[in-house]
Amino acid sequence: MASKSRGSIYDQLKKDHEAVKKLLKQMIDSKESNVDRRRTLLQELKADLLAHAHAEEKLLYSALERYSQTRDLAIEAEEEHHVVELMVGELERCEPSDAHWKAKVLVLQEVLEHHIAEEEKELFAKARKVLDTDMEQQIGRRFQQQKRQEMRTL
Ligand SMILES: [Fe+2]
Ligand SMILES: [Fe+2]
Repeated sequence: MASKSRGSIYDQLKKDHEAVKKLLKQMIDSKESNVDRRRTLLQELKADLLAHAHAEEKLLYSALERYSQTRDLAIEAEEEHHVVELMVGELERCEPSDAHWKAKVLVLQEVLEHHIAEEEKELFAKARKVLDTDMEQQIGRRFQQQKRQEMRTL
């Protein structure tokens, strides 16, 4: 069964969240003088984060916006993605050797930790109540492919 090797949609999303948290930590631990490493880590974060967010919006949030129990939360989460995207843009325009670079990463980390916690603790629990197994499996099967497609359009 395809969903078995990839895990449920919720497992797939959590795995991505862990990868993003790890990258943020690596960015925070990186040295101001190591400009190339900072640039590489930021590009990696951007690709992982935005592909995840866009696929999540298109497959999961769009489904949750159809139910009154999850609509507001899904719309709020979408707005948080928007803020995150603006912050990533800011970071791209900031020199990695600038003292503000790490400060921007720390603020991005705070926003993302809040977003991820709300998603995992509240949104997923509510999603499990409104989405039937078929729908969850359908989203789970399409998620990785959607992410790859999103990555090509970043
Ligand atoms: Fe997510
Ligand atoms: Fe999200």
